[in-house]
Amino acid sequence: MAINLNTKSKRKNPTPRQLAINTSGIITFFVLLLLLILKLSGFLLLHWWIIFLLLILFFLILYFSIVEVLDRYIYRKIKLIYKVIRKAKMAPEEKAKMVDLDQDIIRQVEEEVGTWSDIQAKEIDELKKLEKYRRDFMGDISHELKTPIFNIQGYLHTLLDGGLEDQSINREYLKRAAKNADRLNNIVQDLESISLLESNTVELDKEVFDIRELVSSIFEEYYLQAKDKGIEIKFKNVVEKGFMVMADKEKIGQVVANLISNSIKYGKDSGLTQVGFYDMDKVVLVEVSDNGIGIGEEHLHRLFERFYRVDKSRARHEGGTGLGLAIVKHILEVHKQTINVRSSIDRGTTFGFTLDKA
Ligand SMILES: Nc1ncnc2c1ncn2[C@@H]1O[C@H](COP(=O)(O)OP(=O)(O)OP(=O)(O)O)[C@@H](O)[C@H]1O
Ligand SMILES: [Mg+2]
Repeated sequence: MAINLNTKSKRKNPTPRQLAINTSGIITFFVLLLLLILKLSGFLLLHWWIIFLLLILFFLILYFSIVEVLDRYIYRKIKLIYKVIRKAKMAPEEKAKMVDLDQDIIRQVEEEVGTWSDIQAKEIDELKKLEKYRRDFMGDISHELKTPIFNIQGYLHTLLDGGLEDQSINREYLKRAAKNADRLNNIVQDLESISLLESNTVELDKEVFDIRELVSSIFEEYYLQAKDKGIEIKFKNVVEKGFMVMADKEKIGQVVANLISNSIKYGKDSGLTQVGFYDMDKVVLVEVSDNGIGIGEEHLHRLFERFYRVDKSRARHEGGTGLGLAIVKHILEVHKQTINVRSSIDRGTTFGFTLDKA
């Protein structure tokens, strides 16, 4: 799509001054021939030196007139081009520099227009990408909101249409409606986090804390959920002292919580989730691994995209929206840290991220 004018312009154009010299030279040469013929045939009675002087004068006048015309003509045209392609207004001294008659101006302009059109093409591509992103995002959001809204509507209308008096369903339907309302709330909260993180306005509230302690408190939060599935959660390596890190504690808590919740949601019954810490000079590597269902290699590179789920039906059954890992990645990006994933189907998954040591 990018138009490249640069290749065409390799041939050398004469500079405006060379052009003026050449043209005046050629015209003067023909005038000289004419005068010679006139002189030799006796029509011209002037002395040789006067003829010579006149020719020099003629050459000079011609030369300066051509330079002047070219200067004005080129200046006008180039000014127009620059007006279109340059966003900033030019300073007067820059304008004066714009036309240097000793330079190959045409090639310079060609090159500048070429670069300009390349940049323009890139900007258009970028805008198209953003537009697609926005469209997809809107589509994904409405798709995700539809299910819980539809469910709530269904339960409430059934209750209104007489179900409320039916003791066998009334409490159950209200509970289900409430559960779907909770899910709606979760989605909206996740969306809020994402849009805040993507708007680059997030202020990190960094502090020094013990990452082992933080992980330990999140273990407790997920204790019941893990127990329901018979999954054991524990630290991998027995470290005497915890690692002190420098980060936004609450946000890193969110990261760990999502990784642990995933390891339970996508773990096998009676499985094992382990968290390990590895000292890597300036950073600590935190790894959350499970021996669950695993993720196929073809999905790994898209895992951190928002709304991306490997097995949509299972994820939805687990109440997943596919926003968790997108938020995780954003949070670590804001911390200028990295996250990676290794996984094999049926063997399990390991997510690892780094944190600056305090
Ligand atoms: N430990 C894991 N084992 C297997 N698959 C996983 C694991 N973690 C994530 N996945 C897959 O990656 C997808 C994206 O995970 P992510 O945390 O972004 O979304 P989610 O858990 O489905 O929903 P949410 O976190 O928004 O509640 C999941 O739907 C699941 O398919
Ligand atoms: Mg998740």
